[in-house]
Amino acid sequence: MSKPKVFVTRMLPEKGLDLISTIADAEVWQDELSPPHDILRQKVRGLDGLVCLLTDQIDAELMDLAGEQLRVISQMAVGFDNIDISAATKRGIPVGNTPGVLTETTADFAFALMMAAGRRIVEGERYVKAGKWKTWGPTLLMGHDIHHATLGIIGFGRIGRALARRAQGFGMRILFYDDQVTEIIGRELGAEKSVLDDLLSESDFVSLHVPLTGETRHLIGERELQIMKNTAVLINTSRGPVVDPEALFNALSGGEISYAGLDVTDPEPIPENHPLLSLQNCLIVPHIASSSVATRNKMARMAAENLEAGLKGERLPYCANVGVYQDG
Ligand code: DGY
Repeated sequence: MSKPKVFVTRMLPEKGLDLISTIADAEVWQDELSPPHDILRQKVRGLDGLVCLLTDQIDAELMDLAGEQLRVISQMAVGFDNIDISAATKRGIPVGNTPGVLTETTADFAFALMMAAGRRIVEGERYVKAGKWKTWGPTLLMGHDIHHATLGIIGFGRIGRALARRAQGFGMRILFYDDQVTEIIGRELGAEKSVLDDLLSESDFVSLHVPLTGETRHLIGERELQIMKNTAVLINTSRGPVVDPEALFNALSGGEISYAGLDVTDPEPIPENHPLLSLQNCLIVPHIASSSVATRNKMARMAAENLEAGLKGERLPYCANVGVYQDG
């Protein structure tokens, strides 16, 4: 019997590709960049399964071009704002994602960004490599303490809570803003529930952990940045558009906040001539918060397992649109 036909939009870590190649007749896109949308439109025709990344736009038209035999869309990421989920549900296509396995790795990285931005580590490294280090300086590259500072966590799901656990070890005061999470859950992690504006005005570090939705797009804009302390540091490891980039540039260059540490940007990748790149007090890395060898392999394996279940017509172990199943 012939194997189901699958397209994988990029080379994945080995642990995922090994499984995919045993269960499917898979074509893997070899380029470093995602397939252009018009190529993807050709590649999806007649597929039984699609394995995609957050850099691919998966819309209703693409699902229709694939055809009715398309049984599963499996994304190697926990976020799925690039996929038209309601269109998939309407067509009865389960969408897989990879929650849980990247929680601790992403929280590690959010904490690392907090330390790097707060303590100006990258600026220090640039300073040394540029041959500017002449002596020990009493006021050289003074930053902001992380220990015993106030950390405001916006979005208190898996990753937000993992960050709180790390912050406890640094004796931080922890505030969180999340309508879905009760005070009691927060208290177990030593975190106080807060309204958004209080969190913004009281925090020394603000870290974002919300999915990108219509409601969270530009959640941090001009008004919110003005409320924050002038000494505050903003960390974003969620999705770029949660922060209004123009407002952020104005706030950083006008001294309304002191620093930003961004793993994600809007647009992504950030163009070479983007104003944010001209700022010393904006640390930007290329969406790598979940990028440890172990975690990226686990994500790829999970995506392959979701694919396998979908191809067999079984319930996906990790499904982003459970509404696709009769029992929800
Ligand atoms: C995700 O999984 O959504 C991250 O942004 C990439 O690891």
